Amino acid sequence: MTEDEQKLAAAKAAVEHIKDGMVVGLGTGSTAAKMVDLVGERVKNGLDIIAVPTSEATARQAEALGIRVVGLDEVSVIDLTIDGTDEVDPEKRLIKGGGGAHLREKIVASLSDRMIVIAENKKMVGKLGAFKLPVEVIPFAAGALLPKMEALGSTPEIRMKDGQPFLTDEGNQIIDCAFGEIDDPEELALTLSTTPGVVEHGLFIDYADLVLIGTDDGVKTFGG
Ligand code: A5P
Repeated sequence: MTEDEQKLAAAKAAVEHIKDGMVVGLGTGSTAAKMVDLVGERVKNGLDIIAVPTSEATARQAEALGIRVVGLDEVSVIDLTIDGTDEVDPEKRLIKGGGGAHLREKIVASLSDRMIVIAENKKMVGKLGAFKLPVEVIPFAAGALLPKMEALGSTPEIRMKDGQPFLTDEGNQIIDCAFGEIDDPEELALTLSTTPGVVEHGLFIDYADLVLIGTDDGVKTFGG
C-alpha cells in the first residue's frame, strides 16, 4: 500500500463514525482532505450534518463539495472531529501543525466530544519529536522567541514561504522547533503554553480518543 492508500484507508474508517445530525469538525492537511472528500460523497448521498472547518483551506474544500459549513459561534457542541497528524505516540499524544493549522485545529478539537485521528503508518512513533514541533507565535515576538526555543533544547527556525515568513490563517508566524526526541511532552507543552508570545504549540495531549492508522495489514486502531 502506498502512503496515500494508507491515508485513504484510515479516512474511510473514520468517516463511518459520522452519523446523521452530527456537528463534525473537519481537520486540515492531505489526510484530512481525503476524509473531507469522503464526507462530501456521503453528503451528496443524503448525509445530514453540519461541519466546522479547522482552516480556510478546509472550509473552501468543504463548501465546494456542498457540505454545510458553519463557524464556531453557530454551534453549541461539536460531536466529532476527524483530523490528521504529523506524529502520534502510543499514548495518543500528537504533534500537529505541519500545515500551520494547529491553532484552529486545537480549538475545534478542544470543543469536540470526540476526536478521531487518521494517519498513514509512518506517523506512528515510539517517541515524539523527530518531526519539528510547530509553535505559532505573534509576529512581534518571533525573533525574540528563537533563543527561548533554543534554551528549551531545540534548533528553531522561522517557517518561510516564498521568501517571507509563513503566515497562519490568524496572521501569526510559526517557529519549527527540531527537538529530535521530546522526553517529557507534558512539561514542554506547559512551558510553551505559559511563554508570552506563544499563541499555540503543536503538542496535542489528551485530545485524541481514537487513532486509526492505515497499514499494509489494514487499519490499526487504538483508543476508543
Ligand atoms: C495541519 O496544520 C496539520 O496539523 C495536519 O493535520 C498534519 O500536519 C497532518 O497533515 P498531513 O495529513 O498532510 O500529513
